[in-house]
Amino acid sequence: MTFLFNSDARRGAVFAKAFLQALPDLPFSMDASTVNPDKVRYLITWTVPSDLERYRNLEILFSIGAGVDQFRIDAVPAHVQVVRMVEDGIVRMMQEYVVMSVLSLHRQLPAYLAQQKAQIWQSLPQMQAQDRRIGVLGFGQLGQAVLERLKPFGFPLSGWSRSPRLIEGVTCHHGEKGLADLLASSDILICLLPLTPETRGFLNADLFACLPEGASLVHVGRGPQLDESALLAALDAGHLAGAVIDVTDPEPLPAGHAFWSHPKIMLTPHVASVTQPETAARAVIDNILRHRAGLPPIGLVDRSRGY
Ligand code: NDP
Ligand code: OXD
Repeated sequence: MTFLFNSDARRGAVFAKAFLQALPDLPFSMDASTVNPDKVRYLITWTVPSDLERYRNLEILFSIGAGVDQFRIDAVPAHVQVVRMVEDGIVRMMQEYVVMSVLSLHRQLPAYLAQQKAQIWQSLPQMQAQDRRIGVLGFGQLGQAVLERLKPFGFPLSGWSRSPRLIEGVTCHHGEKGLADLLASSDILICLLPLTPETRGFLNADLFACLPEGASLVHVGRGPQLDESALLAALDAGHLAGAVIDVTDPEPLPAGHAFWSHPKIMLTPHVASVTQPETAARAVIDNILRHRAGLPPIGLVDRSRGY
């Protein structure tokens, strides 16, 4: 039985050390060319290797990230469990990024940076937190965690998911009817949806039209969820006031793309949250222990939903 690690060597070294301590009976390898493929029971990777079928006895395919849209799940044999990353480091970093984005938009940082460039010393009218409504699309591991972190600021908070939720201090919406309600009451909309056929192109002109005048977007889901032209049109028409964009399609964003220089867009290169090897190794070890005990792993992907 072998655990095969297919990611960068720096993270691999941290995983190797943790595995040696916690699972000394499970051989750990970072080199696919030297392992006996028949012995590989667990594989962790960002993309599915083209020769996946050589691991005939594979039991769990772990994603090194929270998303699994980069996997072609249909190509993974049905008996193999696909598991996304559920670990504290990803959650913590996403909380930081979203709080930074929301506060930057709320306190009009882009406008003040523009004023600084133009050497203008002038205060702008400031809305209070209790009047700035925050809505989160995707009310799962990360959506719930960022709303929790935003609670102390006093923003009215809402979340939207496929299935109903009950979270204290958050107005919970679900399904198609719930979406209209969430959009109508989101001055800052945060996208934390997984990329699936249903969410591809989700952030489009129709959706932006349902947001209140002057709303802003924080997009930390996946690039193909956003209709970039529709966002630019909504910003240029003044219907939307600003956007923080962490994910694009394609990545890296091509040279000369309008997002690089748009005055109402703050852009980062898909860094909102990054898997932290120490906590991720612990999460994967715990999942292997669960698997050995006959329990389903945390973060098991439902193939029918695609996340
Ligand atoms: P989860 O699976 O925990 O949560 C997903 C949420 O989206 C759930 O609440 C789910 O609803 C909801 N959802 C999915 N499809 C629909 C739909 N069609 N209609 C309504 N709601 C839907 O995922 P995570 O919170 O862990 O991660 C979310 C995404 O964040 C990842 O898939 C990834 O794309 C992105 N991400 C981005 C990073 C970055 O650095 N930019 C880093 C990490 C993740 P329900 O609860 O009913 O199932
Ligand atoms: C992830 C990401 O899915 O980094 O973890 O986007």
